[in-house]
Amino acid sequence: MQEAPINAPLLETQDGSFTLRHPLLGATYHSTHGALQESMHVFIEQGLLFVAERQSKIKILEMGFGSGLNALLSRIILEERLPSHCLAYEGIEAYPLALETIRAYPLPPALRAWHPAFIELHEKPWAHAFAWGARMQVMKHHITWQAFQSEHTFDLIYYDAFAPSAQAELWDTASVQKLHALTHPGSVVVTYCAQGAFKRLLKSHGFAVEALPGPPGKREMTRAIRL
Ligand SMILES: C[S@@+](CC[C@H](N)C(=O)[O-])C[C@H]1O[C@@H](n2cnc3c(N)ncnc32)[C@H](O)[C@@H]1O
Repeated sequence: MQEAPINAPLLETQDGSFTLRHPLLGATYHSTHGALQESMHVFIEQGLLFVAERQSKIKILEMGFGSGLNALLSRIILEERLPSHCLAYEGIEAYPLALETIRAYPLPPALRAWHPAFIELHEKPWAHAFAWGARMQVMKHHITWQAFQSEHTFDLIYYDAFAPSAQAELWDTASVQKLHALTHPGSVVVTYCAQGAFKRLLKSHGFAVEALPGPPGKREMTRAIRL
């Protein structure tokens, strides 16, 4: 695990929103076809809004907290489209970004009013639960996915690890066993990744797997529902 905060260079993506490039792993934090489009499609539309149709209290775990864009979009959707819902959001991050990288990260124009909340999210300490807005509780864990454990399970997991080509160890049997351990029947896992081997592992570990259309520039994404 990385102790020193990461300074990651910015990269503009094809929808005009920005992503970052991890300086050690070389991978980008989002699709270069569009960071905002990918986060909205994969995690919000096919994840949060899908689960929100059937329950109003949702425990979310994000593997790969990174820039916090998925957390910010979850908060915005909660406040703007889900007036009766509450979120308990936990994020796991092995390589926290430096605050100067976060302060320099240009939010997409439509999200700029949320900049103070975005900075607040990153300034809050790790390993302490805090209220972020009236209906969202957050807890950030500075820990590796491999070492993370939880006493409770989650309704929804945003599995936002770097791609198998960059970090194969996050898409292997042990990772799918961990997804199983952190979920209960009915829990949903969403990821932008559509790798066949990963989908087969999910199926063999008790998940019903859907291949859904991906965000612009990507043919497919994966949604898995724990049986
Ligand atoms: C695809 S990026 C996540 C992007 C993020 N969700 C966002 O919106 O910016 C993958 C993230 O996983 C983190 N990561 C890499 N290896 C990890 C590990 N073993 N355990 C936990 N986090 C890890 C990286 O530092 C990076 O922040």
